Amino acid sequence: MSEFLYIKLEQMFSEEIEAGRWAAGERLPSVRELCRERDLSKATVLHAYSRLEARGLIEARPKAGYFVRRQESTPAMPSTGDPDTVPALVTVPALIRDIMRKGAAFDLLPNADRRADVPAGIVELNRSVARALRHQRGLQHQYYDEPLGVQPLRDQLMRRYQRRGCLFSTEQISITAGCQHALFLSLMATCQAGDVVAVESPGFYGVIQLAESLGLKILEIPASTDTGMDMDALASALIEWPVKAVLVTPAFSTPTGSLMPQAARARLLALADQYDLVIIEDDIYAELSFTGSVSPLKALDHNDRVILCGSVSKSLSRDLRLGWVVAGRWQERIDQLKLINMLAGNRFIEQGVADFICDGGYDRHLRRQRLQLQSQRDQLVEMLQQEWALPVRFSQPEGGLCLWLELPDTVDTLACYPQAQAAGMVITPGGLFTSQARYKNCLRLSFAHPWHSTRREALLSLGQLLMATG
Ligand SMILES: Cc1ncc(COP(=O)(O)O)c(C=O)c1O
Repeated sequence: MSEFLYIKLEQMFSEEIEAGRWAAGERLPSVRELCRERDLSKATVLHAYSRLEARGLIEARPKAGYFVRRQESTPAMPSTGDPDTVPALVTVPALIRDIMRKGAAFDLLPNADRRADVPAGIVELNRSVARALRHQRGLQHQYYDEPLGVQPLRDQLMRRYQRRGCLFSTEQISITAGCQHALFLSLMATCQAGDVVAVESPGFYGVIQLAESLGLKILEIPASTDTGMDMDALASALIEWPVKAVLVTPAFSTPTGSLMPQAARARLLALADQYDLVIIEDDIYAELSFTGSVSPLKALDHNDRVILCGSVSKSLSRDLRLGWVVAGRWQERIDQLKLINMLAGNRFIEQGVADFICDGGYDRHLRRQRLQLQSQRDQLVEMLQQEWALPVRFSQPEGGLCLWLELPDTVDTLACYPQAQAAGMVITPGGLFTSQARYKNCLRLSFAHPWHSTRREALLSLGQLLMATG
């Protein structure tokens, strides 16, 4: 039983109502009566009654008091069984939903750090957002945010891109609800159902799903684990297929962590000119570079062909749902789509993040985070090299959050998903990163989280599990 008096009172009434000791429509004791009879404060009684009202057990009638509500019986949900014990792994979208439901897209052990301290940078960020909320003025809550998003945030982002060699004005950047949203708006604005979009293979499953839902055709272009999308392969594909757009992650793409060299970037833009392509750049991992600042592809874009998309999900917090798009000639269309789609963003989050960046909190956080990620990557590489008995090849990215593993051909990582799950682990099998039947023997492993003993043991038992099934 809780220590709080209002909780005790709430529990007492809820049990009595549920047991039928109070009839529907019956009046409960007045606040004053309860205070007197039980020696409680008015605030305690009001708090308990408010909570009972919010639970739908009682209702307040103005000037009459509190009354027991008629309880509607909730229709029984059809039984779906325990989702964790569904025998066969169905489709890739179902697997992605399962991974997201476990909050585990980037973690082998999603519950392992629940008790960890909140990092200093996030404490600082939370303070900035809370301050922005406290500074809410007048009837501001009755107005939507400006369509592009709050200006101080667009200003800060513009300055950060300036530092990375990419120039545009504050008015040319629009805030979105994350990078996935920015990619969605970009594809919506530039492509129509049936259009062909070239993507990296292996590539981000979120993009494959977006393309599928928009009725676009995906053309998978091979991508190397070091240098990203293969420009020769793209050039050949462009001769053969009427490609409308190319969606790339030049900096530390997922799942491989590849970094596209300058020559490949220049070639991509030349191909875009030659074939009149739209390039959609996913810049979400670029701030997580271990070897210094990386310019976006957009910095080389002299013919307004690149739509730059990004977010703070990987570098700061996934919960903020805060991203952006710099869309050049497509901006008006994208802003219109954003308006239709979400009307406006969350002003307080945007203002709080703007203040956090402006006060230097973001740079401090990034400096710590990069060092930590680099050390976690090194530990992962060392464990794979020295402690996994299984022969494995993997990428060694200089930024981002993950490695791409190639295991012996006999291993089927998708088939291992339920077994890993039964052992308390969530894996991201290679098959998620393609629209075809590929990468059966591959796996994305993240180094986003600290390798304390529990996670380390999980990784070792994953190696054994994969070896046993291979
Ligand atoms: C390459 C890439 N782009 C976009 C996203 C989606 O990002 P956001 O959380 O900002 O919507 C992810 C998330 O995993 C990603 O890996």
